[in-house]
Amino acid sequence: MKNQIEEVKSKFLSEISSVEDEKQLEELRVKYLGRRGIIQSLFDKLREVPKEEKPALGKLLNELKELAQGKYNEKKLEIKGKKAKVESFVDLTIPGRLKYTGRKHPLTQTLEEIKKIFIGMGFEVASGPEIEDDYHNFEALNIPPEHPARDMQDTFFIEDKIILRTHTSPVQIRVMESKKPPVRIIAPGRVYRNEAISARSYCLFHQVEGLYVDEGVSFAELKGTLLAFAKQMFGSDVKLRFRPSFFPFTEPSAEVDVSCFICGGKGCRVCKYGGWLEILGCGMVDPNVFKFVGYDAEKYTGYAFGMGVERIAMLKYGIDDIRLFYENDFRFLDQF
Ligand code: PHE
Repeated sequence: MKNQIEEVKSKFLSEISSVEDEKQLEELRVKYLGRRGIIQSLFDKLREVPKEEKPALGKLLNELKELAQGKYNEKKLEIKGKKAKVESFVDLTIPGRLKYTGRKHPLTQTLEEIKKIFIGMGFEVASGPEIEDDYHNFEALNIPPEHPARDMQDTFFIEDKIILRTHTSPVQIRVMESKKPPVRIIAPGRVYRNEAISARSYCLFHQVEGLYVDEGVSFAELKGTLLAFAKQMFGSDVKLRFRPSFFPFTEPSAEVDVSCFICGGKGCRVCKYGGWLEILGCGMVDPNVFKFVGYDAEKYTGYAFGMGVERIAMLKYGIDDIRLFYENDFRFLDQF
């Protein structure tokens, strides 16, 4: 039996030295150290040997068992270590992760372009509050409480006379209240209206207001300024069309169309085959407005205009749904 033990020992040692993975090691463990394994079967045999040989053989067997268990534990740690090394291996050939670079929102880009053009023509940039009072948003703009023009500009009420502004025109009033002519400003900003939300209208949007007041300002200057703007914004070939319109705070008033810069006025999907695209409202400041801000209407004249930034961006980039601007979907924003 002593020989048998030696044999098992050398077989075990040679087998374990060629073990390479967890599976092989487990097979080896079951074979030698398992409850029905070779070493246990030797212990079983120990019962049959003569009494006087038992202590010495038992000692040998215990030594074999301890040796096998020790070698097994060592091997197990070795395999684990190898695995961990494989897992932390850095593959330098994998392409790097793309870093997302942010960019300006299409509305910001459009607004910056509009601003740049007017600043180039000598306009200053003014601003006013988005939470506005009834007086500045309506009354001082010659829109009394019962005026039907209020219907088109239903808004959100903070309090009875405190509202979210429906247009940037109240900035006209605030600027004129704070300084004497000459005044030449644009006022970009966010405005709000209680609209049914659709592809064409949203509960908030952006406008750029313009105001020029001085002695002898004429409608001809308004036309010239807007034409210079349109040519820089949409292309040097565009024409403008002024259609008579009504705003309580300008007289006379006009709505302005630009000849379609997609088809050159021949008619296409963007201009709905009309050849013209509406871009803004404008007119000569109504003398009643001057009264509200304490300007001498006999001495000064002025013009004002207001354009929608979304509308201009939609025309310029061929965007067919205003809601896309506010959803912040990368697939949309990525295109600008
Ligand atoms: N405030 C007007 C609107 O929102 C636009 C406008 C501004 C018209 C200035 C004339 C002069 O509809």
